[in-house]
Amino acid sequence: MGQVKLRSIAKSFGPTAVLDDINLQIEDKEFVVVVGPSGCGKSTLLRVVAGLEEASAGTLLFDGRAVNTLSPGERNVAMVFQNYALYPHLSVAANIGFGLRRAAMSRRERRDAVERTARLLEIEPLLKRRPGALSGGQRQRVAMGRAIIRNPAVFLFDEPLSNLDARLRMQMRSEIRTLHGKVPTTTIYVTHDQIEAMTMADRVVVMNAGRIEQIGTPSQIYDTPRTTFVARFMGMPSMNMLAARLDGDALVLPDGRIPVPADWPARLARWAGREVLLGLRPEHLSLRASPGGIPATVDLVEPTGSETLVYLHHGDTRLSARTPPETRVRRGERVHLDLRLDRATLFDPETTLALPTLASDPIPTGEPA
Ligand SMILES: Nc1ncnc2c1ncn2[C@@H]1O[C@H](COP(=O)(O)OP(=O)(O)O)[C@@H](O)[C@H]1O
Ligand SMILES: [Mg+2]
Repeated sequence: MGQVKLRSIAKSFGPTAVLDDINLQIEDKEFVVVVGPSGCGKSTLLRVVAGLEEASAGTLLFDGRAVNTLSPGERNVAMVFQNYALYPHLSVAANIGFGLRRAAMSRRERRDAVERTARLLEIEPLLKRRPGALSGGQRQRVAMGRAIIRNPAVFLFDEPLSNLDARLRMQMRSEIRTLHGKVPTTTIYVTHDQIEAMTMADRVVVMNAGRIEQIGTPSQIYDTPRTTFVARFMGMPSMNMLAARLDGDALVLPDGRIPVPADWPARLARWAGREVLLGLRPEHLSLRASPGGIPATVDLVEPTGSETLVYLHHGDTRLSARTPPETRVRRGERVHLDLRLDRATLFDPETTLALPTLASDPIPTGEPA
């Protein structure tokens, strides 16, 4: 059992508010990734759940039971940190078994548990080595082994892959997910890396400045961001944002007008004549062979092999387009762009909130009703 519920959790250090009104329910065995820029409060949130920090306000519930006053040891959670926190003078086996030191177990039982865990993580051949003789990825596995062996109700990961190189990060991402498949355990995984959030999470929690901006599945977060912050933070390159005004059945952009989908004028009646922000993912902009769409000038062309990113400007607005690898354009070239308005998100520039009128379903905040 491992349902975790945060109800109006707040945390301040003296006068500094770090977490504000955090409401989040994580179901048993769910893999939730908390993502946000550095300093937004992710580690503090995890430390509050672990019991390493005390919440200033609100209730933390495990399986419906308030645990605010329980010590970390009494909460049955295991935490894996970025810096692994392994004991350099102990063998891999002793490091993995360390978490069992307080368990009432015979040496034999402890050794069996260590071996089982090592097998699960495919690090059996390393058991006699010291951490100093391991690669970064191997150390990461040992740190996970030390957490898993205690069979905790909740796993907490704090940026566990930040110290690894790009290729190993990618490999460890899928290993951690595979492990979660083999040993399904409620997991809260914190990262500033939006790719990790998109690829690993059952649900993503996007944080900004101590608050939750949105909770949803990766595709909900990507396709229907609730705020401009979420839209810009999730996705690389970032979502394009164009100042726009709805004028009858057309959208007036900084340098041109384009017809809107047939249902927009009715759905957006309240917004007629007002400024909005037109949000479009780079894959929803394409280069046209013939005039039409909106004009833009190419600033930079970035072939990556599988696709070509084209950076442009339209009026004063910078844009990026994800195009096929065979795209041939040059810096300075004047081009025409098609915009997939059917995939657009419109935002209120004052509140930064998405206009709910365009989403097929109301955009969930993710907060419990
Ligand atoms: N013990 C502390 N005392 C004072 N301020 C802290 C403490 N721990 C964290 N903070 C502040 O809280 C904010 C959030 O920190 P943190 O939770 O580590 O963010 P993140 O993990 O998202 O980078 C930062 O501004 C940080 O300086
Ligand atoms: Mg942190």
